[in-house]
Amino acid sequence: MNYTSFIENQISEIRKKVGTAKVISALSGGVDSAVATVLVHKAVGYQLDAVFIDDGLMRENEFEKVSMAMKKSGVNVRLVEAQHEFFTALKRKDDPEEKRKAFRNTFYTVLGRIVRQSSAKYLVQGTIKADIDETKGGVKTQHNVLEQIGLDPSGYGLNIIEPLKDFYKPEVREIAKQLGLPEEIHQRMPFPGPGLATRVVGEANPESIAIVKKAAAIVEEETKELKPFQAFAVLMNDKATGLEGKERKFGNIIIIRCVDSEDALTASATYIPWHILMKITERITHELNSVVRVAYEITGKPPATIEYV
Ligand code: XMP
Repeated sequence: MNYTSFIENQISEIRKKVGTAKVISALSGGVDSAVATVLVHKAVGYQLDAVFIDDGLMRENEFEKVSMAMKKSGVNVRLVEAQHEFFTALKRKDDPEEKRKAFRNTFYTVLGRIVRQSSAKYLVQGTIKADIDETKGGVKTQHNVLEQIGLDPSGYGLNIIEPLKDFYKPEVREIAKQLGLPEEIHQRMPFPGPGLATRVVGEANPESIAIVKKAAAIVEEETKELKPFQAFAVLMNDKATGLEGKERKFGNIIIIRCVDSEDALTASATYIPWHILMKITERITHELNSVVRVAYEITGKPPATIEYV
């Protein structure tokens, strides 16, 4: 694959297609939307409005990291606060598909509003081939594959630009490198659209998300040297018994999820040395007082999926 000519072709195709219209791109923090956004920025410059919707379900300091990396590529990112809307939609929902649907509907409501306010005619999506494969296979409803979920994009007055839909993740990382994106972006772990809501078993609310966010940061930090495909924490909303001093207390259960994979279609649990597992467990139970148990999950994909929701 000649990535240089792919990039050049995409830039001229996008430029031709878009003309003088406005384009909107919603960055998620991941490599896919970053690459798609930079390609479009190279094609149409300031006709692009790059937004970052803060849904409250992102990793720690996500906006700061993404906007800084994008700035280096000349892209200014606009922050849109929407946490309250997402948490309201997720209230009392613990069924996985219900949560995904609530997320998706809110995402498009918020994005639709931003688009209408901006008069953009095109929407950039970082959809990659694996998203399309899995949605077609019925594994899950991907929020970013409009046709598959029966949402008519023209209902939002939009045309979609999906420059990466023929590529899998490793190729997207190569394109990112060719585009000169920093390592922090091209080596970024995949992160699901519905964010940390996929990592809470049960209701995703500000409290449960705060716990899983902090635990995830610890898991990511401590497994960094192993270079896993993905590493994160999952919060079980059910309580388990633990001890505080001599008293029994009922607290949270955190699952460590760390996998090796090429393309996310299959995955296996990363071999994590014992001392690292112990350190993660100690840190999580010390830094998060509500957590009384930490477990490491070793199920591969299949039969499990990488995310819990
Ligand atoms: P699963 O959990 O199905 O995930 O094994 C496969 C890969 O896809 C990511 N993932 C998503 N990515 N929107 C996305 O853009 C989503 O709704 C979504 N759900 C899962 C997941 O992190 C893994 O890399």
